[in-house]
Amino acid sequence: MGFDLNQQTLQGHDDSLRAALAGAGLPVDDLTDAGRSFYRFSRGGQTVGFGGLELYDETALLRSIVVLSDQRGFGFGHAITLSLLDQAHKKGAAAAYVLTETAAPFFQSLGFLPIARDEAPAAILTTRQAASLCPASAALMVRSLPA
Ligand SMILES: CC(C)(COP(=O)(O)OP(=O)(O)OC[C@H]1O[C@@H](n2cnc3c(N)ncnc32)[C@H](O)[C@@H]1OP(=O)(O)O)[C@@H](O)C(=O)NCCC(=O)NCCS
Repeated sequence: MGFDLNQQTLQGHDDSLRAALAGAGLPVDDLTDAGRSFYRFSRGGQTVGFGGLELYDETALLRSIVVLSDQRGFGFGHAITLSLLDQAHKKGAAAAYVLTETAAPFFQSLGFLPIARDEAPAAILTTRQAASLCPASAALMVRSLPA
């Protein structure tokens, strides 16, 4: 990427995070559960989007990836996802999963491939995202790390 995004850790109850996720139709009901990390990504002092991670030993669930609607199409989504993959790898994850209803081609362009739910590890299937918050029609995708 030709730019660096500034990254700031957020609490799950952050209003701007919740508003961006709700506006994009992404789950907000489990944001304050334990074991989640959320970040604001900005450039030149302006927020461009958000992203989050859940880590289960050597497995990571990337989640809550959203670029503000007027900031889409500039490469920020790729940069946010690559940053989350890098962090997951540094924290010991060997594989990263993502659930998505509408952005499967976006994640495919970042090396993710669809996987049947019954082939995924229990740690991922029992996350609230996979078990209840994302519809059964959401695609589950995986890629190995490092990115
Ligand atoms: C998906 C999302 C994060 C992409 O952000 P972005 O900053 O526009 O992405 P980038 O600029 O890095 O990449 C754009 C590329 O991805 C493609 N793309 C982006 N969103 C897409 C989608 N929903 N479906 C298919 N392709 C998509 C664009 O066509 C573009 O392709 P190109 O480079 O070949 O022209 C953004 O559209 C978004 O916030 N969507 C709503 C939330 C969401 O669905 N999150 C994913 C589940 S966690």
